[in-house]
Order: sequence, then structure tokens, then C-alpha cells
Amino acid sequence: MKNKINEKQKTEIHAPIVEALKKAYEHPTYQFHIPGHTKGLGVLPEFKNLIGKKALQLDTTDEFDNLGTLTPATGPIKEAEELAAKAFGAKRTFFLLNGSTIGNLAIAMGLTKKGQKVIVNRNCHRSVLTGLIISGADPLWVLPEKLSNWGLWGSVNPNDIENLLKKHNDVSLVWITNPTYEGVVSDVKSISEICKKYNVPLVVDEAHGCLWNFNPKLPDSSLKLGADIVVHSLHKTGGSMSQSSMLHINKNSSVNEEDIEQALMLLHTTSPSLLLLASLDASRAHLQSKKGQRQLNKAISNAKYLRSEVDKMKHIHQLKSDFGYKTDVTKIFIKADGLSGKRLESILEIDFGIEVESASDEGLLILSNIGNKLSDFKYLAQCLHKIDQNEYKDIYYLENKKHMPMLVPIIKKNLREAFFSNKEIIKKEDAVGRLSGEVIAECPPGISILLPGELITKEHLPYLTDYEFIEVLK
Ligand SMILES: Cc1ncc(COP(=O)(O)O)c(C=O)c1O
Repeated sequence: MKNKINEKQKTEIHAPIVEALKKAYEHPTYQFHIPGHTKGLGVLPEFKNLIGKKALQLDTTDEFDNLGTLTPATGPIKEAEELAAKAFGAKRTFFLLNGSTIGNLAIAMGLTKKGQKVIVNRNCHRSVLTGLIISGADPLWVLPEKLSNWGLWGSVNPNDIENLLKKHNDVSLVWITNPTYEGVVSDVKSISEICKKYNVPLVVDEAHGCLWNFNPKLPDSSLKLGADIVVHSLHKTGGSMSQSSMLHINKNSSVNEEDIEQALMLLHTTSPSLLLLASLDASRAHLQSKKGQRQLNKAISNAKYLRSEVDKMKHIHQLKSDFGYKTDVTKIFIKADGLSGKRLESILEIDFGIEVESASDEGLLILSNIGNKLSDFKYLAQCLHKIDQNEYKDIYYLENKKHMPMLVPIIKKNLREAFFSNKEIIKKEDAVGRLSGEVIAECPPGISILLPGELITKEHLPYLTDYEFIEVLK
């Protein structure tokens, strides 16, 4: 009987890479190939003790032990990608190492060319910009709505996309970020319909929304809403290991799969980590399993619990859907009267031992994850109540430092052209009035403060307090 249950569970959570890796571990060969630590024997003992012998025995790359290859996808890796495509509702899924960053680079390299126009939201991640520098395509910036009370970017207005498409009849791609880092959701359905009307493919950087397809209480995934390509950072909220992500091509998309595949082949490492690939396979299987479903439901109910506690507070407020923005319930952005987000973050860390996802000028971001317990949120709520009742002072403003870039860019030169122009490094104080030679986009959130070819103004200085020198065009 026990075996029967195990068999049933096994089919339910079929994870080909995990299974192949287990087989390789249980039937070790005499190894005369990379990785040279050879199942952990050539490793600093302190490191081995720290991460465990088994982790090193499992650390291998593709081609060996019947594990398949990443590029082109073969064997268990191919099977795992196919299962992921099915789970996310895609025609084709590519597993990514080096995060969604490499997905964005491959999209730019595979689908855009020098001089082509690409509609992009200004608060995109810097990997999108790096991609455009590589390809030489010209961004046509869309400024999303500004949520000024929260110091955040909001959603992309579909009308802004349509107006740009009307004005420029040679746009090769529309590329938006959805949701924002803080969980604000755009109307992807309308944007996708507009893109179809103008026959322009839609790419959605959904790095922060990989859970959506697995629970009806979360927003609809962009694949469901008609985007051509979607990128997901499974490692951010999906439960896979750091830097593992996925890129999906939608079922009815006319985007050429080979263009993406070719770009990924050139950009990817030629020694992919099987541990990372297995963790992607495992996270997809887990999200489909009963336990994973339970944990995701719990992440949602824990978030709701915290939100109901914040609603009881006098001086702490939260960004939520009923303010007119559509948001992902699991991303809780709060702010406290009289405290900057950075100050609130340091109070939580120093006084209460709590580390949050990120903080900016106005507030901070808390993630309710599938690995969190209700007791974590009870403790967090208790601490926030204490902060709410005590008169903490803000000392952060003394630093005159800003974190969330919200400026409208003054563009003087093409991105790629400026990036590859002659440059010099000068003192920050002398940089006002010059054109930036570098991408300045601190993480988090990885949104650009300045891009090559943009005019540096006085307004940029509070964002550049950590910089003594800046690279400018000659
Ligand atoms: C919107 C967005 N896209 C892409 C990325 C890059 O993702 P990764 O860290 O998986 O490379 C990030 C990272 O924070 C992001 O916020």
C-alpha cells in the first residue's frame, strides 16, 4: 500500500531532471571530466562541510550521465522544458541560467536589430537596456503612471502604447514589465489586443509574476492574456535556486523560436549547472503538486493576514488594489508616516532582526513567499504594531539620498552609439550638463537612473550619492 502511494505521488510530481540526477547519484561512474572537484573530493573541506557532501556529489554539468543537454535541449532537460511549457500554457519554454537577465538579452539579440524601434516602459530592468545596447535597437520610452504618494511607478497605460504605434509605423516590438517590482499590474489584455491590431509582437517581462498561473486568486498571467513572449524569474518567487529562470513562447505566437534559441545558445554558459536546471524542474513540479498548491494558498492567506493587521495601524499604510491599482496580493508595499522606507527597513532589521525584500524612498516591500509560515507574519505584524505605536525618528533624510528613479529622461544620443562613444571619467559635481556614458541602474530595483546618451541634470544628484566619479561622453 505504501509503495502504491509513493508511485502515485511520483507520477503526480514527475520531474525528469530531478529523477535523472538521482539516478546518476545512485550509480556513480569513474569520472574523468569536468567539474574538476570530482564529486566534491577536490574541495576545501570547510566549504564541503558547510554545503554538504551530497550537494557537491550532485554538482555536474550537461552531456554526462544521461542528463541531456541544455542547448539544444535533449533528454531529461528537453522533457522538463516540455512539461514546463504545458504547466505555464506555452508553446515552448527555455530554461535559463543567469536569471531572467539572459532571457531579456536573448529577446533583444534575437528579435531586434540596429536602428529598429522598440516600445519599452522606462522603469524596465537594466537587462532590457543591456539587450538594446547589444542589438542597437532604439527604445521609444513609455512612462507609466506615477504613484506619487508611494514614490513608485504604476501601470503602463494601453493608450500610450497605441499612440506610439499610431505615430511610428516601424515598431518591431512592444516590451513591458508586468507586474512592477512592487506588484502593480498593467492591463496586459488591452495592450496585447492593441499589439495584435498593429501586428507587433508583445514581450512581457513577468520576472516577478511566475506564480500567477498556479492560483486563480492571483492576477492572470500574460501568456493567458495574449503576450507573445514571457520571462519568469522562477528563483524570485517560484521556489527554484538563485539565478534560474524561464522564457516562454506563447502557443499562437508567430515569433520565430529559432531566433531566440540561437541567441540563447550564444549567450548561455557552455557548462550549465545541473543543480540549477533540476531546481527549475523541481519548482515547476512542486507548484503543480498538492503541497505546492497548499503552500501557495498559504502565501496568499498569510499576505491577507498581514494586510488586515496593517489596516488596523494608525501610521503605517499599504498599497492595495482598492486604491484603484490592480496589485499582486503577495507583494506588500508599506510606508510609515514620518519615516522614509530606508529608515523603516533599518528599524526592522536592527531592532527586530527582520529583513525585507527592498526599501525605497517612501516605503518598503515585503514578499509573502511559498516558504513563509504564518508565525513569520505574526511576528512581523507584532513588530510593525510596535513601530506604529512608538515615535521613531527619521534620520535618513539627512543623507539627501534617493533610490527610486522617477525622472523623465532627456535623451540626446542613441543608446548603443553613446555606449560605444569616446568617454571620460569626471567628478560627479562636474557632470551636470554632460551626457552620461554609462548605465546607472542600482539594484534593487535595477531601474535606470541614467543611460548612455542622456543629459545629466541637478535632479540626478540625489540618486548618485554613492558615486564620486561618473563616466560621460567626450
Ligand atoms: C523586472 C525585472 N526583470 C528582470 C530582472 C532580472 O532578473 P534576474 O535576477 O532573474 O536575472 C529583474 C530583477 O530584479 C526584474 O526586476
